[in-house]
Amino acid sequence: MKGIILAGGTGTRLYPLTRVTNKHLLPIGKEPMIYHSLKQLTSADITSILVVTSKEHMGDVVNLLGSGEEFGCDLTYKVQEKAGGIAQALALAENFAKGESIAVILGDNIFEYTIKPYKDNFLKQKDGARVLLKEVGDPERYGIAALDEYHVLSIEEKPNNPKTNFAVVGMYFYDNKVFSIIKNLKPSGRGELEITSVNNAYIKLNELKYDVVKGKWTDAGTFESINEANEILNNNNNEILT
Ligand code: G1P
Repeated sequence: MKGIILAGGTGTRLYPLTRVTNKHLLPIGKEPMIYHSLKQLTSADITSILVVTSKEHMGDVVNLLGSGEEFGCDLTYKVQEKAGGIAQALALAENFAKGESIAVILGDNIFEYTIKPYKDNFLKQKDGARVLLKEVGDPERYGIAALDEYHVLSIEEKPNNPKTNFAVVGMYFYDNKVFSIIKNLKPSGRGELEITSVNNAYIKLNELKYDVVKGKWTDAGTFESINEANEILNNNNNEILT
C-alpha cells in the first residue's frame, strides 16, 4: 500500500498566515503541520509516500522534508499546477501508485490516535474503499454521511441541511479502481473534482465501508480549528497515541 499526502490549496481561510507560505508548513504544537501526516502514515507502516503540493510551495516543502529518511520513509513529490479539487490532486498519484491500493491523508487533518487500526480493517476488505467518520458540531463545513446501522447510504459535501453530524474526515483508503472512478467524474457546482463524488461512486458499487475515529480529530483549515489542532498535539508533545 502506498501513502499520499495532499498538501495543496491556497489556504484562503487562514489569510494572512498563508499569504506567503503553505498552510501545511504552519506550526501545530512544536512542529510543522505536515509532520503529522507523515507520522500518521508511518505509524501505520506506510513508508512509500507521495506529497502533492502547489508549484509555489514545493521548494519549501522539499527543503523541509527532504528524502524522508529522517522520518523513516521514502518521499516522492508531485506538483499540482492548479487547485482543482481533492480528487483532481489525487489523480496525479496514478503512476506513483503502480496498481497498488492507497491511503490518502489531507495534510491539514490532525488525529489524536494512530490511523493504523483503520488501515488494518481496510486490508481485511477484499476491495473497495474505506472512509473515517467523526461526529462534529458544525456539519455544514464537511462531507456529511447519511447512515444506517451498517452502511454509509450517501455523502453530501457541505450540506445546507445536514442529515447527520457524521463528518467524513480527510483520511481515505482506496483500491486501485479509484483512478478510473476519478476519470469519470464531473466537476461540482464550485468547479472542483470532489472527493465526496469519489466516495459516492464507491457507495453505488456497494464497496464503501467505514470506521468511526477514536479520540479527538480536527482539520486545521480555519483559525478556530487550528487552535483545536494545537490543543490536540500540545497535549501529546506532537506524538500520536496508539
Ligand atoms: C474536505 C472534503 C470534505 C471533508 C474535509 C475534511 O473539505 O471536501 O469532504 O469532510 O476535507 O477535512 P475542505 O476542508 O477541503 O473544505
